[in-house]
Amino acid sequence: MSENTWTEIDAWFEQRLGKPDPVLDAAVEASVAGGLPNIQVAPNQGALLGMLAKLMGAFRILEIGTLGGYSTIWLARALPEGGRLVTLEAEKKHADVARANIARAGFSHVVDLRLGPALETLPSIEEEHLGPFDLVFIDADKANIPDYFRWALKLSRPGTLIVVDNVVRHGAIIDPKRIEPDVEGVRKLTEMLSAEPRVEALALQTVGSKGHDGLILARVRTPTT
Ligand code: SAH
Ligand code: DHB
Ligand code: MG
Repeated sequence: MSENTWTEIDAWFEQRLGKPDPVLDAAVEASVAGGLPNIQVAPNQGALLGMLAKLMGAFRILEIGTLGGYSTIWLARALPEGGRLVTLEAEKKHADVARANIARAGFSHVVDLRLGPALETLPSIEEEHLGPFDLVFIDADKANIPDYFRWALKLSRPGTLIVVDNVVRHGAIIDPKRIEPDVEGVRKLTEMLSAEPRVEALALQTVGSKGHDGLILARVRTPTT
């Protein structure tokens, strides 16, 4: 089966299960117009993130890697009144587009966007006691995934869900020739998870308009589950 078929199947369901969404369409259009890479999560992945946040009853969300704020908007929509989302972005150009998209979506008062390399802004998130977070979405530079996961754990509570994007990359994860830092970052995370008694974790492959990729879901254990 080809990527074309996956994309057509995504579109078939999207036409039936999705709703017209001028705000998200405008966010993607503004991102394209601003010259941002077209690498935001697919619509059904955004919907999955939002549904997970609602299932969790998430009140505090942390996102690492904002881009144009597409996934940010999906997550912000899932928050109840008073909920907050902190999102970290290294590129000023991306952050500027994201701020405008988030404002158009009506979430400027909900979303706290921090500009700078995430490893430099995460300490302030801790110092300002913005956690613990109910849900963390890790979707920035892949080489730093192990450090982002350490931070996510530090800023978590029992029951926190940590979601990591782009863990399959068209199968690169199991290709021994692929030793670039991006792929090694996901391998290291997987090693950490297998040795980490504080979390339960799974990897879910995805196909669709973004090709063959996948998500890791890691849940911080409670004393009994
Ligand atoms: N979550 C977004 C997509 C993020 S793409 C969505 O699905 O809509 C990855 C983003 O991470 C890019 O905007 C990139 O600039 C940002 N990024 C890369 N390195 C980073 C770093 N060290 N700290 C924070 N953000 C970083
Ligand atoms: C790419 C895709 C992503 O979802 C991401 O977060 C970073 C990069 C990519 O296709 O290159
Ligand atoms: Mg991604």
